[in-house]
Amino acid sequence: MNADNMAETTQKTALITGITGQDGYYLSRSLLEKGYVVHGIVRRSSSMNRERTDRLKAEFPDWEEQLFLHYGDVTDAACTIERIIQLEPDEIYNLSAQSHVRVSFDKPLFTHQVNAVGALHVLEGARLLNRTKPVRVYQASTSEMFGGIPGTSPQSETTPFHPRSPYACAKVAAYHHTVNYRESYGLFACNGILFNHESPMRGENFVTRKITRGVAWIKHGLQERLALGNLDAKRDWGFAGDYVDAMWRMLQQESPEDFVIATGETHSVREFLDCAFERVGLDWTAYVDIDPRFLRPAEVEVLCGDASKARSQLGWRPETSFRGLVEMMVDHDLELAERHRRMSAMLPLGVSISTASASSSPSPT
Ligand code: NAP
Ligand code: GDD
Repeated sequence: MNADNMAETTQKTALITGITGQDGYYLSRSLLEKGYVVHGIVRRSSSMNRERTDRLKAEFPDWEEQLFLHYGDVTDAACTIERIIQLEPDEIYNLSAQSHVRVSFDKPLFTHQVNAVGALHVLEGARLLNRTKPVRVYQASTSEMFGGIPGTSPQSETTPFHPRSPYACAKVAAYHHTVNYRESYGLFACNGILFNHESPMRGENFVTRKITRGVAWIKHGLQERLALGNLDAKRDWGFAGDYVDAMWRMLQQESPEDFVIATGETHSVREFLDCAFERVGLDWTAYVDIDPRFLRPAEVEVLCGDASKARSQLGWRPETSFRGLVEMMVDHDLELAERHRRMSAMLPLGVSISTASASSSPSPT
């Protein structure tokens, strides 16, 4: 067997649900760089939301040999199970979710269908495939499951769960299903309990991106004010690009286990504002309004993770500092705002470019 054939037979295949999301982008990028064949599940929608997968294609000119997108939806059991059986992936990363905590209060049943029942469909598909071909599953669990109860910080793999939103309740169910498939069927299935991770690819209605986009738009005169909710909430914010590496490492272990992934530092929304506005030399107190519509029926006050198990067993550690993350996001949004301003200036009077953003969400997010 020559080296080319060898590479072909050892090339691994991964299936990613949620490939169009933030983590889907960084994880795909990392797996493509490692030489994986990557299959991604995408949902049909009336307007295309492929910004991140299009970016991937631009970054990997030979993407057609390695990256394959398939229509699907994790709430569709038949389709999800059939895809898994048909594609025979070595690794499945279940990243799909209705991932917005505030929105989960508006859509509790839908959130449960996607985040809990959808995860169960993925596990069923993996269990059936595993009868004939070994497969490993990563389940995107979350620090929201801890609920940030006072006195429980820093949270580790042994901290009890106290979910405080429909989103977190559904994720707790998916967490336990994952453990149960491991214990009942010997499936190689891991929960990555990831604390908040952000990036320039973050959705615009999560607080970090809402702030960095607001900073850039205000700096360029495209927006006057920024409305936010609870500024006292504290989160352990890391960089998504660092965190996807931990997902992959979990599936390369000898035996499946669950891991907390976090930086071990916590900062308030207020501190994030300080750092982001400082980057452009502005004082946020002159621009930010507090709007009670952005408060949640129940809040997770403080999250701070203890990732010492991941550090010792996976050899994983975060590479990006809090300030480095904030500046990376602000700089990216400044570039977007600058481009937007230039393009707007070229349009005829009265015509404007759509600026769909968090502020145009149907409910306060
Ligand atoms: P995200 O940007 O909101 O991406 C979510 C992805 O799930 C999108 O690709 C979305 O597709 C897809 N999706 C939603 N409903 C689906 C369905 N019914 N069937 C198939 N796909 C569906 O979220 P993220 O930040 O990348 O997070 C990835 C995962 O990690 C999520 O499960 C999230 O709950 C979890 N997590 C995130 C963090 C964090 O801080 N980012 C922390 C802990 C855990 P569309 O593009 O079509 O909507
Ligand atoms: N979204 C948002 N919008 N949050 C705000 C705002 C606002 O205008 N103002 C203050 N906040 C506060 C929220 O109340 C919350 O305490 C904190 O900022 C972070 O909110 P989000 O950025 O929406 O993230 P999250 O912590 O609720 O959830 C994210 O992290 C989880 C991991 O802990 C999501 O990515 C989840 O999918 C993920 O599981």
